[in-house]
Amino acid sequence: MRIDVAFAPELAAPAPTAIVIDVLRATSTIAQALNAGYAQIHCCVDVDDARTLRHELGRGVLAGERECVRVPGFDLGNSPREFLEPAAELAILSTTNGTRALVAAAERAERVYAAGLLNLNAVAQAARETGEDVSIVCAGVLGAFAMDDAYCAGRLAALFDGKLTDAAQAAVRIAESFETSEAGLLASQSARNLLAANLDDDIAWCARTDVLTVVPRLTRTTALAVEISL
Ligand code: MLT
Repeated sequence: MRIDVAFAPELAAPAPTAIVIDVLRATSTIAQALNAGYAQIHCCVDVDDARTLRHELGRGVLAGERECVRVPGFDLGNSPREFLEPAAELAILSTTNGTRALVAAAERAERVYAAGLLNLNAVAQAARETGEDVSIVCAGVLGAFAMDDAYCAGRLAALFDGKLTDAAQAAVRIAESFETSEAGLLASQSARNLLAANLDDDIAWCARTDVLTVVPRLTRTTALAVEISL
């Protein structure tokens, strides 16, 4: 079993299983939302696609951010703390990097999971059980390396016994260099963006590790979205 880490979505090599990480905050929010009782999260690249899908479906909440702030006219932002109770059966989510990374991964992998620190071990266990090669895909920030995702990727890669690529070993070393998960997240541009938007509490929230057992997975791809559910 080969474990690779792509530090940005464009670097992802094809593999049967992709695990997408946008620990601050999209994949943490998806895990939290499914744990709270949302049945599906429809992930869209564009804000306009999300609006169109909401119109076509005639149900669901619109959620997402640009520059960390809730999109005007949307029901919810991208904070996991907004998803403690289900406000509808489904959510339609569009974020800057995370939902884009999920859509890209769905084009390359047979199985796609969404992971953060919140559900790290649960996703690792599901991927290990497949026995197939894994590509851990960091959403990054606008195509570039992001320390928070690299940290989380390293924590995840360390949970596999397989053959780690050089990139996966680098991620493990990055993770080992931080004393706490919060420190690993705080060292990132993503965290600085959240601090600038007065969303400090989301960093501590997303740093909590293995508090959820949900395994969000790709269940369907449509013209406007990829559907993530349990
Ligand atoms: C993203 O998709 O870029 C992030 O989830 C941004 C955010 O923290 O809202």
